[in-house]
Amino acid sequence: MTVMGTRDFVDNFLSGWPKGAPPVVNVATDVSSALEVLAEGDGAVVVGFPDGLSFAMEIADLHRDRRIFVALDRDSLADLGLWRRAAGRGIVPVSADRAAAEVAAMLPGTASPKRDPVPIEAIIQAQREMIGRGERTRVIEKLTLACWSTRGGVGKTALAVNLSCMLARWGLNLRKDFRVALVDADADGGNLSYWLGCSKPRVTLPAWLDMPDKASWDTVKEYLLLHKPSGLYYLPRSIRATDEEFVTQELMEKVYKTLYRHCDAVIFDLGTSIRKENNYVPYVLSMVDIVLLVSRSDYPTIQSIKADLEELVNKWGLDLARIRLVLNRRSRGVEYKLKDIAAYVQVPLLTPALPEDPNVDRAANKGEPPVLKYPAGDFARAVSGIARHVVGSELWGEEKRGFWSRFMNVFKKGA
Ligand SMILES: Nc1ncnc2c1ncn2[C@@H]1O[C@H](COP(=O)(O)OP(=O)(O)OP(=O)(O)O)[C@@H](O)[C@H]1O
Ligand SMILES: [Mg+2]
Repeated sequence: MTVMGTRDFVDNFLSGWPKGAPPVVNVATDVSSALEVLAEGDGAVVVGFPDGLSFAMEIADLHRDRRIFVALDRDSLADLGLWRRAAGRGIVPVSADRAAAEVAAMLPGTASPKRDPVPIEAIIQAQREMIGRGERTRVIEKLTLACWSTRGGVGKTALAVNLSCMLARWGLNLRKDFRVALVDADADGGNLSYWLGCSKPRVTLPAWLDMPDKASWDTVKEYLLLHKPSGLYYLPRSIRATDEEFVTQELMEKVYKTLYRHCDAVIFDLGTSIRKENNYVPYVLSMVDIVLLVSRSDYPTIQSIKADLEELVNKWGLDLARIRLVLNRRSRGVEYKLKDIAAYVQVPLLTPALPEDPNVDRAANKGEPPVLKYPAGDFARAVSGIARHVVGSELWGEEKRGFWSRFMNVFKKGA
């Protein structure tokens, strides 16, 4: 068994084992050594980091053969959403203060099934009924996410645009007023409106300087553009270099807080900006739930990103726990293993890696997001795999069958 978590948690776990010494082979009290010890050994894994569920979910994907427990505090244990997310990955929640006793009761043997199908089904059913009755219900927990990299040209915008479009279409299928907003926050010169077929945006980031505080959605909507084919709201950067000075952290805070209040999911396409002073990238990185750190799949790029991260942990106080690595433009037949890359960078990897796919440029050249233009292509399928991680596989998977097959048919007919 491997036990990981804060030092207090690990100490309590080891001393709380009911009979004799616990069968613990490895312990880890920080995330990077946790990833290291996971690569060795087998057996059960107990995760006791604060807010450890996301981490446990990543581990569950990387180590499908291992039984995973996550220790949650009292409030989290009472949260059905958390239960559903854990159970969807076969993760067993235990209470943080009695973790050793509860894990001991379940190990070894077959007393408790690995998956608990009842709560997920029941909750999804209940949600569907509420949606059916037109009652407003939160389909996913509010989600904020940034696509970021310390290197240029790696596919940040490709991922941000396509993931956002997918989430927007998926959400609208569940609820009429599901809102996804995408912000072009690339201080090095963003271009995401071109990906969405808009070369002369009506509004851009600096326009938000005039936005009244606590504006209603009807007002906020006027400060965003709507991408009709997907239902995605987006906010382009200014195309004028002279507007650069207006895009400050203060403005970005306004954008973040306003969109957080009115939208179900908010996604930022962030530039590299690591050599810039006074930039807002550290602010956005510290606010969002998940940072998708995009890298190309070649070793030199991966090495340079690892070195940049090491620098930024000190310089910006970067919190590695919320970062997930996404590899882009992976070609077939490359020898090194994805797991080895994740262990090297010491950031959990979201799979699948995005493949090299000529449809990406083909669609982008026409101002259409590749996932809409080629929904059955390799790239779109991989982006859908990333979306599943972000939303939670039980909800995404549930919808996928009905919605995506219909969605694909529409496009097949149109082609
Ligand atoms: N999986 C892929 N397959 C093929 N081409 C891709 C793939 N991902 C991205 N590209 C292409 O690579 C180029 C760079 O991608 P993108 O603009 O998304 O990178 P970026 O990290 O946002 O760059 P920048 O630092 O300039 O903002 C684009 O021409 C894009 O179409
Ligand atoms: Mg970009």
